[in-house]
Amino acid sequence: MRIVIQPDAAAVATFAAMEIANQVKSKPSSCLGLATGGTPVGAYRELIRLYKSIPISFANVNTFNLDEYVGLAAEHPCSYRRFMNENLFQHIDIPLEQTFVPIGDAGSLHGECLAYEERIRSLGGIDLQLLGIGSDGHIAFNEPGSSLASRTRVKTLTQLTRTDNARFFDSIEQVPKSAITMGIGTILESRSILLIACGAGKADAIAAAVEGPLSAALPASSLQLHPCVTLVVDQAAAAGMKRADYYRMSEAERARLEQL
Ligand code: F6R
Repeated sequence: MRIVIQPDAAAVATFAAMEIANQVKSKPSSCLGLATGGTPVGAYRELIRLYKSIPISFANVNTFNLDEYVGLAAEHPCSYRRFMNENLFQHIDIPLEQTFVPIGDAGSLHGECLAYEERIRSLGGIDLQLLGIGSDGHIAFNEPGSSLASRTRVKTLTQLTRTDNARFFDSIEQVPKSAITMGIGTILESRSILLIACGAGKADAIAAAVEGPLSAALPASSLQLHPCVTLVVDQAAAAGMKRADYYRMSEAERARLEQL
């Protein structure tokens, strides 16, 4: 796992946006896996800025979002479809029909989950998956205890996740109790993974994901099984890692080798 410790959230956003832009530049027909929540907003803002300042096109890109709340229609102000349209898609040249977010109010939720998996497969799989992390170590909405082999399905949200996400709603009662989410097995099939985390509230989860045992109790620890993960954190989110000095040294050595 490559661990990049940045000075602050703005530097995390810049790093993430550059990674996504480089992916699209090297493969214009990339399939991107995208995340919602507070953490990626800065990265999307920076990606939009890059889009306006360098020659890059998303016209042939397909995107798959990690999750969507069950019961929320696409037009709902708190739906992840709406979040993505407003924070990214409507600012770049991606055709909306190439952007996929699970349909939270589908007639058959099970059918929607199967169709989502099939769509990812039929488009060749995800090249780069962007992830955030929950304060309990969840990735997408794979809550603690999720099978490490899980596929896209409906998952009940923990009280902690609903409390964390209540800031996007008028009250906690309005936060849906379940979501459609890509599974851990689905995420691990991505060719590369970029996890971003900022703030002291993520420090314990990050330390456990990187330095703790592999366990379904901490879904992000499953990333230890993946050969191509980059984890980008700010100082506050890095604070719980015991080997932070080594990770900083590794990055310095990596930069030195790139100069040769
Ligand atoms: C969102 C998602 C979640 C978030 C996580 C962190 O699509 O999959 O796993 O990444 O809950 O959320 P923030 O960034 O709001 O702290």
